Amino acid sequence: MFKTLAKCVRQYKTRTLLTPIVMTGEAAMEILIPFMMTKLIGVIESAQGTGLTSGDFRRIAVFGAIMFGMACLSLLCGILGGKLASEASAGFAANLREDLYRKIQTYSFENVDKFSTSSLITRLTTDVSTVQNAFMMLIRMLVRAPLLFVFAAIMSFVISPSIAWIFLVSATLLGLLVVLIMRKVQPNFREMFKKYDKLNSVAQENLTGIRVVKSYVLEEEEIKKYRKATQDAYDYSVRAEKIMVAMMPTVQIVMYATMLILLAVGGVGIIGGSLEIAELTGLISYSTQILSGIMMAASVLSFVAMAKPAVDRIAEVLVEESTIENPVSPVTEVVDGSVEFDRVSFSYAGEGGARVLEDVRLRIESGETVGVIGGTGSAKSTLVSLIPRLYDATEGCVKVGGRDVREYDLETLRNAVAVVLQKNVLFSGSIAENLRWGKEDATQEEIEFAARQACADEFIERLPDGYGYDLGQGGVNVSGGQKQRLCIARALLKRPKVLILDDSTSAVDMKTDAKIRDSLRKYAPEVTKLIIAQRISSVRDADRILVLDAGRVSAFGTHDELMETSEIYRSVYESQNGGGESDADAE
Ligand SMILES: Nc1ncnc2c1ncn2[C@@H]1O[C@H](COP(=O)(O)OP(=O)(O)OP(=O)(O)O)[C@@H](O)[C@H]1O
Ligand SMILES: [Mg+2]
Repeated sequence: MFKTLAKCVRQYKTRTLLTPIVMTGEAAMEILIPFMMTKLIGVIESAQGTGLTSGDFRRIAVFGAIMFGMACLSLLCGILGGKLASEASAGFAANLREDLYRKIQTYSFENVDKFSTSSLITRLTTDVSTVQNAFMMLIRMLVRAPLLFVFAAIMSFVISPSIAWIFLVSATLLGLLVVLIMRKVQPNFREMFKKYDKLNSVAQENLTGIRVVKSYVLEEEEIKKYRKATQDAYDYSVRAEKIMVAMMPTVQIVMYATMLILLAVGGVGIIGGSLEIAELTGLISYSTQILSGIMMAASVLSFVAMAKPAVDRIAEVLVEESTIENPVSPVTEVVDGSVEFDRVSFSYAGEGGARVLEDVRLRIESGETVGVIGGTGSAKSTLVSLIPRLYDATEGCVKVGGRDVREYDLETLRNAVAVVLQKNVLFSGSIAENLRWGKEDATQEEIEFAARQACADEFIERLPDGYGYDLGQGGVNVSGGQKQRLCIARALLKRPKVLILDDSTSAVDMKTDAKIRDSLRKYAPEVTKLIIAQRISSVRDADRILVLDAGRVSAFGTHDELMETSEIYRSVYESQNGGGESDADAE
């Protein structure tokens, strides 16, 4: 885990390493100044009987100048260290975000399902910021605090071993208290991040579904839901902070108690003649340093305590292996558009989960047009998602062009199998930019041709900027049917061997729907087409029609054959043509 994160330091390595070195400079000065002070007081003390001579004055002036120089140097190191640390930590966070983002891009649908989108967003934002803060504290204090502690301890032993043991006792005590507090606080931080996930999930759902929220006038409900989520996050954060605030008073009690004991013991020493005033002054300075060293360590630890759960969560994302990987020696050519399901079973939860697809066997010839009909939840979308390997079959194998899809290079496969998903999205940017997702270097002619095939040309040409028209985030600036046609055009630009339309013309009127099918037949006759639809009219003229029922193939044949043999098909047909409801769900 540490290694995974350490990799993100990259070009900020120098700054990361320089920070503790510079901070060491600051600490060294801080340690030396009290030492000089002891010497200075010693000079004044030795002159007590005789009065200060001009030589003493000179020595005092020199000491003063050196101490001033040290103080300046310490300040300079402090400023430089702070600057380096913020640059290094900001850079580290940027790299970390990039790595996370890169990793998430490799994820399969299954991986994303596992984490949930909102949790991935929290991990990319809040978690990274938390780690960034801890990283900054860590590189600034990591060397400085222990150094301060160790050197101050050594110096005080040099001055008076009989008194210095007080520091050791109080330091040990303090260390134990800090560790105890850390252990108590961590679970609360862990919960807090989970609440942040929830918070983001509520906000995200609301914002993506804002139209639905408005149309159902659920704003108040949504506000309540969000308030509940913020309250939960607040509770855990307060619970954690409550423990954290105990840290500073604890440290201070120990600090002042140490000071008092030191003064008492030191005072007795001075009266008894075993200790000099200069030595006591030195000891007091060092005791402050030792204890402030511990205090610094404590505050670093508190950052670390908070960051630990965030680090774990980030590492989880970074080490997660995509469930769909490129094979070792991938096949980079799909010979034709034939599709075969060989005893395929599938469950979203992996092996042992509830079967969504059960023992599916079918063969679709290259260039064939196959309609897919079935009630909602009969696994139509699931079935086709196995073809471009959006998910892998749990059992059996899916073949494209006569080869197991798992043998292909993913990019090759997904370029050959274009899917217009049921829940499809467009992105902000112009229409042309969106269509170029299908083919990066598509010419204007190619784009227009694809749009024509999808019957999208007529409305695009009526838009103010034509192909330059901006779609807005998620393609909000076009209607549902227009969006569907743009998605089809985008898929066609890939020039695929297999084209899958998952309910892709549901929002398009019957006439345009028929026109799209006609143009597909005319312009892309060699492409294997799988058309999932609710309307029988959308699949009626397909070469063959597949009827799915609860994840099983119920029937597979031409319209006429199915009218003869398939009960389900016939009843759907009748419900749609008998003037009744037009829903494939009728059973
Ligand atoms: N990502 C997922 N994780 C878990 N279960 C899922 C997931 N997607 C779908 N399912 C389940 O799998 C089953 C089949 O869903 P699928 O989306 O394939 O049906 P469908 O035939 O396409 O339905 P519709 O006609 O409504 O689009 C459903 O019971 C659904 O609850
Ligand atoms: Mg579906």
